[in-house]
Amino acid sequence: MAKCLVTGGAGFIGSHLISRLLCDNHSVIAFDHAPWDKLNNLFSLNSSAFKYVQGSVSDSSLFRSLITDAEQIYLLAATLGVRRVIENPIGTANTQVDQVRDICAIASSRQKIFYASTSEVYGKTIVSPLTEDLPLVLGEPDKARWAYACSKLLSEYLLLSLYRDKNVPLVVGRFFNVVGPRQNLSYGAVIPNLLSQAIKGMPLTVFGDGTQTRSFCHVDDAVDAMLSLMNHDSSLGQVFNIGNEEQISIGGLADKIRSLVDPLLEIKMIPYKDAMPFGFEEILHRVPSLNKIKQCTGWSSKYKLDEILRHCFIALKEALV
Ligand SMILES: NC(=O)c1ccc[n+]([C@@H]2O[C@H](COP(=O)([O-])OP(=O)(O)OC[C@H]3O[C@@H](n4cnc5c(N)ncnc54)[C@H](O)[C@@H]3O)[C@@H](O)[C@H]2O)c1
Repeated sequence: MAKCLVTGGAGFIGSHLISRLLCDNHSVIAFDHAPWDKLNNLFSLNSSAFKYVQGSVSDSSLFRSLITDAEQIYLLAATLGVRRVIENPIGTANTQVDQVRDICAIASSRQKIFYASTSEVYGKTIVSPLTEDLPLVLGEPDKARWAYACSKLLSEYLLLSLYRDKNVPLVVGRFFNVVGPRQNLSYGAVIPNLLSQAIKGMPLTVFGDGTQTRSFCHVDDAVDAMLSLMNHDSSLGQVFNIGNEEQISIGGLADKIRSLVDPLLEIKMIPYKDAMPFGFEEILHRVPSLNKIKQCTGWSSKYKLDEILRHCFIALKEALV
């Protein structure tokens, strides 16, 4: 069984991944800058095979000592949420660049690495569904939101070079809107946001005119996808979309959530200029093609949107009481 290191392990996807790795009898170190006493996600993990190390991936000597000991490394540490990225573009980029720089410096061919990238790297590419081989169109450098996508994309380039030049086995997964229990409410992710408004009996707020579309992937499906990529050597040195092909408009999503929680709730449209800081740009449609990961690993998403919403609703209701 492998010694695993998960950066960003205190986060939403990281905590679900760690539960699965422990169930599969691996030992796990979660490395995250969140203080232990502020963590809810990891409290239920009571296993001698699990250890929490608090620190930043920008602390090179600490991070390098953890890399050296690990057999499998999952790079998940990141700043998330468009608003937080716009407020701190330099910190956002440093978290990606710093962790990948140290991986490139000392990772070896005896280790296996998963890098969590994002659908944001597709930027303004107007193609649907999005395939991994598309040329990418990112936004202007004076729009701070692109710091996240640019640093993720730079990390992809560096890691794929590491695979080619030094034979370090690694795979990149581009996540598209992962949702589920334990997702952080403060980032403004649309499903937890609308559900918490509905649970509190408040109007559901939809930014823009609600015609923008998205697709949502259950976190259990996302974890399955990561593990199947890590378990198939034919995936190595490549980039894969991870998501769900079922798309819905954000207005339609608000309708569904209203029907699920309370059909009498009001839905309010808010213009972007009143809702988001300077530097925000909406991406109208973003749906993944999942053909590549299906062909390589046989993985496909199991959860339909209605079931995803029910899971999120139950978990959030419990968390909010
Ligand atoms: N959730 C999604 O829909 C989604 C979509 C696309 C990509 N991703 C990627 O998946 C990964 C996990 O996302 P998540 O939803 O679990 O987010 P999350 O915010 O819940 O988890 C990220 C974790 O990284 C930690 N972190 C941030 N900066 C750090 C640093 N410098 N050093 C150490 N730890 C640091 C945070 O404390 C947090 O616990 C991220 O890399 C993210 O970019 C997620």
